[in-house]
Amino acid sequence: MRDPGLVRDGAVLVRDGNIIAVGPRRRVTRLSEAPGAKKLDLGGRVVLPGLVDSHTHLVFSASRAAEYEQRIAGSTYEEIARKGGGILSTVRALRRAKPQALKTRVLAALRQFSAHGTTTLEAKSGYGLDIKSELATLRLLNELHQEQPLDIHRTFLGAHAVPPEFHGRADAYVDFLVAKLIPRVALNGLAEFCDVYCDRGAFTVAQARRVLMAGRAFGLVPRLHAEQLARTGATRLAIELDAASADHLEKINPADIRALAASDVVATLLPGCCFHLGIPQYAPARKLLDAGAAVALATDYNPGTSPILSLPMVMSLACTQMRMSPAEAIAASTINPAYSLRRQMHIGSIEVGKFADLAIFDVEDYREIPYYVGVNHCVMTFKRGEVIYSREGT
Ligand code: NIG
Ligand code: FE
Repeated sequence: MRDPGLVRDGAVLVRDGNIIAVGPRRRVTRLSEAPGAKKLDLGGRVVLPGLVDSHTHLVFSASRAAEYEQRIAGSTYEEIARKGGGILSTVRALRRAKPQALKTRVLAALRQFSAHGTTTLEAKSGYGLDIKSELATLRLLNELHQEQPLDIHRTFLGAHAVPPEFHGRADAYVDFLVAKLIPRVALNGLAEFCDVYCDRGAFTVAQARRVLMAGRAFGLVPRLHAEQLARTGATRLAIELDAASADHLEKINPADIRALAASDVVATLLPGCCFHLGIPQYAPARKLLDAGAAVALATDYNPGTSPILSLPMVMSLACTQMRMSPAEAIAASTINPAYSLRRQMHIGSIEVGKFADLAIFDVEDYREIPYYVGVNHCVMTFKRGEVIYSREGT
């Protein structure tokens, strides 16, 4: 992860949306297929693999700016959730939302993602929490995957909160997920992954195990929200179930770090959450990296804890707040999340045979991508060889 594999004065040759050559410009331009190719001079800018955002809660119908203000005034995220705000306020809003307005809103967000260099993302359900709204969310994600250029990988997150109909009956809600919703989701091909919000005030490790095992029996690959607010043992569960990813990890302990490093579970860190919530304890990225864990970064784009859709911004946080190097932050936003989405053969690096998914940054040095914090230097984004975003004047 420390070596970005930099090519100076490089070129990429693309055919039918795939990379067929990459390397020093002088070598690539001598290849027999090069003269016939349409040439695009990127003017010496920095070209990265298209960014891969492996943790988002993409589908929601309204911001929670009022809660943001309450938190600034001193309420905590968990207090607000206990009073029926938090995730449940987004659930109420989503259940009432007009489908067309919702779709327009999500499409606008997707355009913003591509304007910041993202070419593939994972998106979770979890603001519906009943059959109708969960299936509608996953179907909307499928429609968007077909109709716009970014690839969207779907995760079923029915176990995000206990909905009002099951208030005080979390186990009965888990029974419902296992018996009714998971089979419906899986048999209709509506998701690839299954996730659980396993934390203090959310679902227990025992409940998470039931949900993820039921999902796995139907072919849904487990992912897990783990050790964000408290150390619960969720990381151990992720390892036990061979999950694709364990996400958050702010409260992970040293033994968990060793276990995670010895496993194939990707440690997905979401520093946008700590930043937005104003919590100083970021996940121990350095310890995870030094132990040999596969670390990924993601935005956790959601209306409660991380209304952030810029992976370059998340890279800046990773570098300054968690002491990841710029090269590590880039690997953590490209090839490692690609692996956690089981797409490492197709995306996540600029290599022959992979999709020509590229993000172009108007900087002179790749380290300037996290360094110039808060400004979007992505000027062009390609998905499978097509320009899907270009800043005016570039
Ligand atoms: O990843 N922790 C649970 N899920 C989200 C927050 C969702 C929300 O508050 O709406 C997260 O932080
Ligand atoms: Fe999340």
